[in-house]
Order: sequence, then structure tokens, then C-alpha cells
Amino acid sequence: MLHRHWFSCILYAAFSVLHAAADHHTCEWQGPGTLSPEKYGYILFCRAPITILNTTHAEYVCPSVYWLRIMVADYGFLRPETLEVATPCGHKGFARGSQCDYHTWGVCDAPSDRTRDPSTFNCKFIGRKDDCEWPVTFPTSAYAPVSVDIWMKLRGGSLRWCGSLELVEPSEGDTVTVRGATRRSSAILSSTLTKRVACLSLFA
Ligand SMILES: *[C@@H]1O[C@H](CO)[C@@H](O)[C@H](O)[C@H]1NC(C)=O
Repeated sequence: MLHRHWFSCILYAAFSVLHAAADHHTCEWQGPGTLSPEKYGYILFCRAPITILNTTHAEYVCPSVYWLRIMVADYGFLRPETLEVATPCGHKGFARGSQCDYHTWGVCDAPSDRTRDPSTFNCKFIGRKDDCEWPVTFPTSAYAPVSVDIWMKLRGGSLRWCGSLELVEPSEGDTVTVRGATRRSSAILSSTLTKRVACLSLFA
């Protein structure tokens, strides 16, 4: 368990299941550009912190106030040293309903809000029914990203979705306990507190 609650999010949840085979790719498509996906109209789906299982395996699960366990990426399961991003809207995808209206999603290897220096994160874009493996491998789970950002973009004028997003990050030097192993948060997780309210209908 992470001691700090990074992010809580009230998610629109309409349960329709899409069945389509996910195409597996390397995460290499730069999509609209190299800036924060927020600059291109994307909305943060979640910031998923790493849960280290052991030196070779880890999971990235969205913090959730609900019972849903939304795993958006894992490390070491597809193959050793490899970070794999799950499909949002393909078979067994983690997204729901109108979250799948738009054709592409963004994924970043570090916090990637629009206020961040773009040199501190790498973002790639994937088709909604795709999954992908990160182009860089990590020798152990200790080197894998401390968190991943998953970005989505919605459309549809009748959308009635408003959620409050709250994002609290650990300060540098804070102790983060990951299933028994204790790590210091890195400098990239500098102390910030961001509170936002997102009404996705604004983007319709
Ligand atoms: C690490 O965790 C994975 C996933 O739980 C497991 O399959 C693997 O056997 C574990 N490896 C070791 C060395 O414990």
C-alpha cells in the first residue's frame, strides 16, 4: 500500500463491454506531439502508482474510491524487464462506455500535467483498442516508472460527466512503502498539490 493517497477520482461508469481483439504494439506513436497530453485536450484518466510485487514484477493500478480495481499497466508479465500498457477499450479493456468514444489514448512514464516540464516525461499515444509495450526496458522493478499517467479524450455533446480530481503527490524524500519494500520518492515527484474539477462535457 502506498502511504499517500495520490489521486482520487470520481469516474463516469456506464457499463458496456466492448469485445475486440487488442493489437499489440510497441508504444512509439507520438500522436499529436511531445507535450503534455493535456495540451491536446486529453483528460487524466488516472495516475497509477507502481505496486512492486518483487524485483521482476510490478503492477500499476489506478487509485479508486470504488471497488473497481483498474490495472492499467504491468511490468515483467508480458516478458522480462518489459512495461506493458493495457488496452483501454479492446478485449477486457479497463475503460467503460463513452470513455471509449475517442480513438486514441495517451500514456506517460511520469507525471505529465500541462504545468510540468516536458523534458521530465515521455508520452506515447495508442489506439483505444490497442495495448502496447514501452519502448525502453527496465532491468528491475526498482527502475520502472514510479507511476504512469493514462490520458483519455472524450466527445459527445450529451455527455453528462463531472468529476472532481484531486491529486496529491509525495514530496521529495517522503517514504513510500510498496508491499514491504520502502523507497524514497525521487526528485521528479517534487512537492505539488493540484486540485481540479473536470467536467468532460466541456470538451464535447
Ligand atoms: C514475482 O512475482 C510474480 C508475480 O506475482 C511471480 O510470478 C514470480 O514467481 C515472482 N518471482 C519471485 C522470484 O518471487
